[in-house]
Amino acid sequence: MGARDRSISAETLIRKTNSPPRKGSSVQSLDILDRQGLRGFLNMVEREFPEEMLRIQGRVEIELESTAVVFELERAGRSPVVVFEDLGGKGMPCVTNIAANRKLLAACLGVSAAELPMAFRERCQNYLPCEIVDNAPWNEVVIEGDDIDLTKLPIPLQFSVDAAPYITAGQLTARDPKTGVDTTGFHRLMLRGKNRLGVSLHSRRRMYEFHRRAEEMGQNLPVAITIGIHPLHYMGSMTYAYPPQVRKFEIIGGLFGEPYRLAKCGVGDLDVPAGAEMIIEGEILADVHEPEGPFGEFTGYASYRSTQNVFVAHRIRMRRDAMFHSVTSGMAKDHILISCVTREGEILNALKRNLPNVKAVHVPHSTCGAFVAIISMKKTAEGEAQMAIMATLGTELYTKYVIVVDDDVDIFDINDVFWAIATRVRAEKDIFFIPGAKGAILDPSSDPENFTLTKMGIDATRPSGRDFAERLVISEADRARARAILEGAGLKIQG
Ligand SMILES: Cc1cc2nc3c(=O)[nH]c(=O)nc-3n(C[C@H](O)[C@H](O)[C@H](O)COP(=O)(O)O)c2cc1C
Repeated sequence: MGARDRSISAETLIRKTNSPPRKGSSVQSLDILDRQGLRGFLNMVEREFPEEMLRIQGRVEIELESTAVVFELERAGRSPVVVFEDLGGKGMPCVTNIAANRKLLAACLGVSAAELPMAFRERCQNYLPCEIVDNAPWNEVVIEGDDIDLTKLPIPLQFSVDAAPYITAGQLTARDPKTGVDTTGFHRLMLRGKNRLGVSLHSRRRMYEFHRRAEEMGQNLPVAITIGIHPLHYMGSMTYAYPPQVRKFEIIGGLFGEPYRLAKCGVGDLDVPAGAEMIIEGEILADVHEPEGPFGEFTGYASYRSTQNVFVAHRIRMRRDAMFHSVTSGMAKDHILISCVTREGEILNALKRNLPNVKAVHVPHSTCGAFVAIISMKKTAEGEAQMAIMATLGTELYTKYVIVVDDDVDIFDINDVFWAIATRVRAEKDIFFIPGAKGAILDPSSDPENFTLTKMGIDATRPSGRDFAERLVISEADRARARAILEGAGLKIQG
């Protein structure tokens, strides 16, 4: 890649700033920037969980191999962060699988894995104003005009069905052309050429709406793509049920427990994470559509559905020793686990407003982290399960089926949930259909014309106000005695 300025060190950048020293605008601030970025996370894993870090030094081919490695690890029950030091000989390491491990995500919030959804639910409501700094290390290298060549980045081809290599860990930032409030979120980016990417805005949240509004005004939408972020940014970017004047960056600050450090890049007055590895500045074109996809999606299917938008890059900024980041796609945990956690948190937040007796929510990985929500509640009156079903379907576009169970059922054990459905449901009164509801575009069962489908609620709670069959239980004390007996017989079993 041709570079306009490869010689500026991070320290020089700090000395170059003329503004009086502000809180956080010192050499120490670089530590804060790193801590809030991908390298801060990698440091934490290497320091505190070295067994969860896998560095692969040898050459790995850019087509299919990195994805196959991550899936093979998953089959073996392992979810380490993986750094491919040499992916396709591109001269830049590629980091993947940063979000596949509940233990590591929980550590980012300073809690245990079991506390993760609840901690996320609480912290993502503590919006914190951002701090703008002027010393982002991604200004070390600036590449513009004809020198831009995205094909030189280590962008893997993940599945044989994929139409091209895809940038899967690009956080797109833009401002609402009407209100000026910005957003940030992942959107898949298909490599179409040196400065051209296909993009799909199919989740139809803020970025889709901002682009639609810009198009209505006859304008392209200025967009910055951030690559190389901390998992807490990944997590915060997946929130959606928050007031329109709130910035997602303020939600991410709430997750960090300190203001998120942003810096101005060179497009559309956009602020982007100062601690990131790389920024690609450009715009999503108005009224231009080009074929995009197929792509191996979180549904476990090749997806041919796309909004078929086009992003044109005008500038790349990056650290001198930048690392590339890629989310392993398809049904990899790296792609789905955070969707499970954030949906569990968002649904909990919506339900708790009206139904304090809701105990927990589980969106299983096996339902693509999206399509089924299981809710446990301590029911106090008939009709509460129906309220929970309606509130969930009204909150989460992707949810198709909601199952409500009593709080004696372990919703993280699918066998227990099936047992409740098998023994507590009367189909004629406990199963509800909502035909013609808006579904996810990528759900292969939604109508191809308008993406609607029939949603379903299952009330698998016991009827209240009358006797119901008594569940068989073995007390904790009896279980402990049983384990002691077994241990006496030479068989040690964990409690
Ligand atoms: C790895 C990953 C890739 C994603 N790719 C897309 C995508 O290509 N298009 C899309 O519309 N949403 C995609 N999503 C979901 C959006 O990132 C998510 O809905 C986000 O909240 C949208 O942000 P926005 O409100 O700024 O549009 C992806 C999510 C993840 C975790």
